[in-house]
Amino acid sequence: MDWELFLSPYKQAIDELKIKLRGYREQYEMCGDHSPIEFVTGRVKPVTSILDKARRKKVPMDRLASDIQDIAGVRVMCQFVGDIYKVIALLKSRRDFQIIEERDYINEKKESGYRSYHLVINYPVQTITGEKIILVEIQVRTLAMNFWATIEHSLNYKYEGRIPKDIKDRLQRAAEAAFLLDEEMSEIRGEIQIAHKHFVLKNSNDKSTP
Ligand code: GTP
Ligand code: MG
Repeated sequence: MDWELFLSPYKQAIDELKIKLRGYREQYEMCGDHSPIEFVTGRVKPVTSILDKARRKKVPMDRLASDIQDIAGVRVMCQFVGDIYKVIALLKSRRDFQIIEERDYINEKKESGYRSYHLVINYPVQTITGEKIILVEIQVRTLAMNFWATIEHSLNYKYEGRIPKDIKDRLQRAAEAAFLLDEEMSEIRGEIQIAHKHFVLKNSNDKSTP
């Protein structure tokens, strides 16, 4: 199997999507508005992980492209939970790819405590032999959700998926703490926005009444 050839459209798709999504952030910055996108990352799944997953899920080698949805993965990090839904709305309005799956692990968090919003898209890549449509998994999450998921993922790796019960319990409590942090930050943001509106209003009143 020529992995370099097989993975090249996935790499192309990630490079393109990173540029496209970072473009949103630049536009918000230009307007001086809060960007719902904090930063964007992407990766092509390493060959060893693809093979591991194929073995685990009993996916034959000729069905990798159709049965493994996260060979190409893009992650969008947001400051606030509300930003996630703004990003999802932006993604849904796009005409350069098709959303084929949508999973809201925010309103329905996973048993582990994992929270994020997932989309799987059909993304067309233009190659020298014509258009190739590949699957890309997009995960949209807050910085707090990302912090939790990154650490939980490395613990899973360390314990080879068999995290001891006491650590699992602590991870669930940490997930709850991350959830509360997100809630608290959204509330603070709401209050800052109200204060800002009052400030702008007061300023314009002060100017019009000498
Ligand atoms: P996978 O075989 O992992 O793809 O699971 P799935 O096909 O049921 O899809 P799911 O939406 O559950 O998970 C897709 C991706 O979300 C995973 O590859 C991870 O990147 C992430 N994810 C899902 N659950 C967890 C979790 O409990 N912890 C962490 N850290 N990441 C998770
Ligand atoms: Mg999956």
